[in-house]
Amino acid sequence: MKILSVVGARPQFIKLAPVAAELTAQGHEHVIVHTGQHYDANMSDVFFQDLQIPAPDVHLGVGSGSHGKQTGAMLAQMDDVFLEHQPDWVLVYGDTNSTVAGALSAVKLHLPLAHLEAGLRSFNRRMPEEHNRVLTDHAADLCLAPTQVAVEHLAAEGLDKRTVLVGDVMTDVCLMVAAQASPPASVPDGDFALATIHRAENTDDPVRLRAVIDGLATLPLPVVLTAHPRLVAKAAEHGIELSRGSISVIDPLDYPSMVGAVRRASAVVTDSGGLQKEAFLLRTPCTTVRTETEWVETIDLGWNALALDLADLPRLVTRPQPRDTSATPYGDGHAAQATVKALTESRSSSPER
Ligand code: UD1
Repeated sequence: MKILSVVGARPQFIKLAPVAAELTAQGHEHVIVHTGQHYDANMSDVFFQDLQIPAPDVHLGVGSGSHGKQTGAMLAQMDDVFLEHQPDWVLVYGDTNSTVAGALSAVKLHLPLAHLEAGLRSFNRRMPEEHNRVLTDHAADLCLAPTQVAVEHLAAEGLDKRTVLVGDVMTDVCLMVAAQASPPASVPDGDFALATIHRAENTDDPVRLRAVIDGLATLPLPVVLTAHPRLVAKAAEHGIELSRGSISVIDPLDYPSMVGAVRRASAVVTDSGGLQKEAFLLRTPCTTVRTETEWVETIDLGWNALALDLADLPRLVTRPQPRDTSATPYGDGHAAQATVKALTESRSSSPER
């Protein structure tokens, strides 16, 4: 079987790692296409190195731009790549512009399309990620769902016959890396909150961004803010100082350092999807700076709380440790195996295209 994976943004490299390893272990041919959506070395290259992902076979080098320009630049190049490689499956990951571009290209060329991390919904249509997910799920021949809740969302949209529950590949990577990870020198020895902010809904409106940074700056413990390039760019554009009050800014961390830092932190404050789950897996209480989350299991189990009102941040971030749990809503660390099995079995029962 020949699989062509399309990736482009940081969380997709993490998801790609266990899938690439499993495809190779099972002797399948794997072509990796990197769109170039993320291009800084610390947003891209370090993940390939640390997670031992083979170098991309094709790099589209699209870089940054408005949604239409960025997605369009990917689309313009993808046809030739897909036609040259003629894969049995195009595999797209998550919910970024790289995901939807890969999906559109595949369906237009009648190539079988599989979506890993299908069925997540925030039900917030203002999020670019929500459009990307819904469009990709409905284009896909195979929806690879990470959780039972995702399976139910797909069923509610009439996609149950194309859906397979495989678990969450981020659990595979997180548990594997956690065994050896240690915190980086850039985090303090005592109590601290590890923070990341990058979502468009928190960064693009200057009033909102200032309020979020003010909230972090006044927390009653040191806050280590790993600054995503979007945050740095938007803060500079709006004249908002990031390094003040409780906040120390550090560069984005490589994956093993991030896992080590999450485990060492007393609290995580974030608007990232992946980090909410990593905090849960590593049992660090998380506070999510959003009005909703796709990862509702983390809330139900008490390990995550939504900061619906920024005034609640100090209370939420210093809340007592939640009750421990043995629940495994994100699988047992074997989602990549289940993914490759689903691809193999669905291919032999031949999708419609
Ligand atoms: C993208 C995804 C988001 C995901 C995030 C993970 C979409 C719509 N959003 O958001 O779902 O959670 O990746 O990080 O696809 N930049 C750099 N260097 C880089 C990459 C970005 O400087 O290597 C800067 C540029 O100023 C760019 C901005 O960050 O304009 C935003 O990057 P972009 O790829 O458009 O979206 P993200 O915010 O990273």
